[in-house]
Amino acid sequence: MAPDNRIAICPGTFDPVTNGHLDVIARASAMYDRVIVAVVNLPWRKGKTVFSAEERVGFVTGATRHLDNVDVEPFSTLLVDFARERGAMAIVKGLRAISDFEYELEMNQLNRRQDPEIESVYLMASAKYSFLSSSGIKELATFGGEIDDLVPEEVAGALKERLSR
Ligand code: PNS
Repeated sequence: MAPDNRIAICPGTFDPVTNGHLDVIARASAMYDRVIVAVVNLPWRKGKTVFSAEERVGFVTGATRHLDNVDVEPFSTLLVDFARERGAMAIVKGLRAISDFEYELEMNQLNRRQDPEIESVYLMASAKYSFLSSSGIKELATFGGEIDDLVPEEVAGALKERLSR
């Protein structure tokens, strides 16, 4: 499908989705006619996920139900191939601290080399989510830390059940 500048992809592993991810998704949904949240099904460069792809898709779907122009789908191909199949012109991601920059620059260049027509767009993380990450949340949940303000309620419950010691 030819890239359409009104469609954007918000990709990620989302293991689990955090309020920081949701902030970026909501902001993208205000900028584009249609946003497809693409949930990685085969995160080859990372260890096993805590939640299955179905669970991760379910959490994002539940937390974005109020956003009419947002759909959530798993994918197991190259990100740019998925974007092209869906007719998206933009990949929208959040950028937190400087530490994100190097990784995102590499991903951006890999993706652009594969398909120069698909642009990556970075939204600066809102200050209150600057240091929020899925791995930090999992560490907090493992040791009984407070996570209720950082993830959707359903995710907090599932994390406590699966990870708390
Ligand atoms: O760090 P994240 O949020 O889990 O990133 C996942 C993703 C897919 C956005 C990132 O790995 C990326 O941009 N990858 C580009 C290379 C690719 O297409 N890989 C296949 C899917 S992992």
